[in-house]
Amino acid sequence: MPGPKPPRPSTFVAAAENAACEGCHVEIAREWQTSMHREAAHDPIYLRALAREPLTFCRDCHEPEVDREVGVGCVTCHVPTEANETKGVLAGTSGGSGAPHAVLRDARFSTDVACARCHEFRFPKQRDDWARMQSTISEHLRSRAKERPCQSCHMPLVAGHRSHRFDALVEGSVAVTARRLDDERVSLTLTPRDVGHAFPTGDLFRRVAVTLDAVIDGRVLRSSTRWLGRHDTGNEPFGIADDDRLLDAPIDVIFHLSGVPRRATLVYRVVLERVEHPGEHDEHDAVIGGTTLVTSGHL
Ligand code: HEC
Ligand code: HEC
Ligand code: HEC
Ligand code: HEC
Ligand code: HEC
Repeated sequence: MPGPKPPRPSTFVAAAENAACEGCHVEIAREWQTSMHREAAHDPIYLRALAREPLTFCRDCHEPEVDREVGVGCVTCHVPTEANETKGVLAGTSGGSGAPHAVLRDARFSTDVACARCHEFRFPKQRDDWARMQSTISEHLRSRAKERPCQSCHMPLVAGHRSHRFDALVEGSVAVTARRLDDERVSLTLTPRDVGHAFPTGDLFRRVAVTLDAVIDGRVLRSSTRWLGRHDTGNEPFGIADDDRLLDAPIDVIFHLSGVPRRATLVYRVVLERVEHPGEHDEHDAVIGGTTLVTSGHL
């Protein structure tokens, strides 16, 4: 199955092999070209993290081919090992065949196993009781969606084939119900919608910012933010993380309003933050590489 840095014979030119796949599978290639798999070696957030921590271990997943520009390419997933290069292209259960190349059919390629070696891992020398760098596969096994493979959500059928855009699906993935509990407190209930693992998942530093602004005449009187994620407990390098992410069940986030006039409009936002560096002391110090608005509203 695909995974970090597959062994290749010296004659294997990943860029040329990949271009050949793209040349025949035009539609799928177009989708893949917009995906983060294609960008894995160029992603500026990754490159800045790599500059801080230049380990070959990182390149094994983000730049698994000798020709780095391929990123996580067609060949990385479909031609994972030396053996497959002679036997043909790895495929799951979905295709119809009639291919002008050999097809190595393996039912596991239609399951989580096709994603597991890159989407669940520990840092080198990491102790068992430390939080994993990523744990999307085990989160999935604990979720209500465990019977549905990663592909069912991240590779939906479009025009008769499985999409290769690998969308992150973040927008709208959480619903919010906001209500005033009394004059002093507001509760935001966050309910995940069909997320097959924790929200947020993936990179250890991902977090969700839940923000409530009290606004009068267009002016923000007060802004409060609560973060949900894996919080570092301070044991180097990554202590047993205090984990308050969402998994299937709703979470209530309570905000206190003391001193805020009743006529203020309360505006909330739920934002996924791609944290580049968690900061030294305080969650407010984190360096944010990018954000995606999940949902917003007011009361
Ligand atoms: C991250 C891994 C990954 C990458 C990168 C990837 N694929 Fe796939 N591809 C898969 C998986 C997994 C399936 C099978 C889905 C299933 O059977 O449920 C698949 C299915 C296919 C199929 C059968 C489509 C269908 O649904 O009938 C073709 C053809 C294909 N890929 C070609 C390509 C080409 C060409 C590229 C590069 C442009 C590429 N793939 C990149 C993982 C990948
Ligand atoms: C000369 C054109 C050509 C090249 C080059 C080519 N393919 Fe295909 N491939 C096809 C055709 C035609 C089919 C059958 C119709 C279909 O499934 O799209 C096919 C089928 C497939 C399937 C589905 C097999 C099945 O029955 O489930 C996969 C996966 C696949 N190709 C991946 C790749 C990958 C990865 C590469 C590059 C290493 C590649 N192909 C190179 C033309 C090509
Ligand atoms: C060879 C390793 C590898 C394999 C195999 C792999 N991935 Fe990935 N995937 C990555 C890397 C690396 C990234 C992150 C790229 C970045 O953001 O820098 C990624 C990103 C993603 C993203 C996008 C996340 C975002 O923030 O936009 C999704 C969704 C995803 N993968 C799903 C899958 C699924 C589903 C499978 C199995 C069919 C799979 N991946 C197989 C390495 C892999
Ligand atoms: C039931 C549908 C569903 C299934 C099954 C599922 N996902 Fe997701 N996935 C989502 C949704 C919705 C999001 C957006 C919310 C989030 O980030 O958690 C997402 C987000 C992601 C992200 C992007 C995280 C980010 O912060 O950008 C990755 C990577 C990912 N999934 C990988 C996987 C892998 C690997 C599997 C299989 C083990 C999988 N997913 C199974 C629905 C699903
Ligand atoms: C075993 C595979 C694997 C290894 C090794 C790995 N990564 Fe990743 N990395 C991934 C996957 C998969 C994702 C996408 C998950 C997500 O979207 O949260 C990712 C995402 C990231 C992101 C987030 C990118 C973004 O756009 O937000 C950064 C930064 C990153 N990795 C840096 C590194 C660094 C630095 C190393 C080495 C110290 C490393 N990775 C090692 C698989 C790996």
